[in-house]
Amino acid sequence: MQSTVIPQKADALGIGDIDPTLDLEDEINRLRKELGAVILAHYYQDAEIQELADFVGDSLDLSRRAAETKAEVIIFCGVRFMAEVAKILSPERIVLLPDAEAGCSLEESCPPEAFRAFCQKHPDHLVVSYINCSAEVKALSDIIVTSANAEAIIRQIPEDQSILFAPDRHLGAYLSRKTGRDLLLWPGACVVHEQFSERELIRLKGRYPEAVVSAHPECPEAILNHADHIGSTSAMLKFVSETPAHDIIVATEPHLIHQMKKAAPDKTFHPAPGADGTCSCANCPFMELNTMEKLYLSMINMGPRIEISDDLRLAAKKPLDRMLEMSPPASKVTPFDPHANVA
Ligand code: 13P
Ligand code: SF4
Repeated sequence: MQSTVIPQKADALGIGDIDPTLDLEDEINRLRKELGAVILAHYYQDAEIQELADFVGDSLDLSRRAAETKAEVIIFCGVRFMAEVAKILSPERIVLLPDAEAGCSLEESCPPEAFRAFCQKHPDHLVVSYINCSAEVKALSDIIVTSANAEAIIRQIPEDQSILFAPDRHLGAYLSRKTGRDLLLWPGACVVHEQFSERELIRLKGRYPEAVVSAHPECPEAILNHADHIGSTSAMLKFVSETPAHDIIVATEPHLIHQMKKAAPDKTFHPAPGADGTCSCANCPFMELNTMEKLYLSMINMGPRIEISDDLRLAAKKPLDRMLEMSPPASKVTPFDPHANVA
């Protein structure tokens, strides 16, 4: 099975070739029209990228958008596994990722060959994998889930069926607690969500006793124990609009707060702190590799580009299709979508 490749063009222009007088936003808008492109962005991208994207969403909503778009080119402002999902579901589209190095620590924590051996040791287990994994790991899985649909999908699996869950042990442990299922966990974790400090969170709650805590399920149990709400990035966004609380502590990558401020401008958001008492450690180092300059260059160079061999793509598509079939219908709360007609 051939692995995913992102070829770089030898004659590609670099950051130093960009005319400093250019208005990058204007240029990106011009190129988007010329290319018939759609820009999809995850909530963890810089605010300026979120602002010019055609659609901003969580992993599930982005997968659905990628599967449905009629645009010839998808520029994926997110991380590699998300862009791969776009290519797997929309193989006839050109899929660009502004920085080829935009990976994910969860993906890194689950090397395909080791995972294959682990699955082979447990042949009676259904393999349920979090979407934050490589195309190769998806191809070894029975069902893919995201943080938005994992609980609903696991509840559809017969009680007597053993389940192996990978790669996020914190999300897996949370799902196990929620559903009462005994999940066999792969020991992966997200470097960003593991940075939050329980001690500093308790101190912050002490300073804002009326505040509620909304947390992503990639956080360790010690953090989730303090949460009033646990959910995917879209669910967290919905929660902050609906809660009567004025102060909200946000335990996930802090770029999501950009949309929270738009959804609830009268509320105050406090990023959950790391061990040093600040949130600076919680920026995703992979997401922030994508910049306006690299987005512009990806459109000029038509690369980095996601390419996946047909056999790998078809094997990885099966569990993704199963996910889309088993997912509850899309949320009625439409995430920020400034150019809904473009896609
Ligand atoms: P969501 O699907 O909740 O947006 O999460 C994606 C992710 O990478 C969280 O770290
Ligand atoms: Fe991966 Fe964590 Fe970054 Fe999400 S926040 S993309 S799980 S490294």
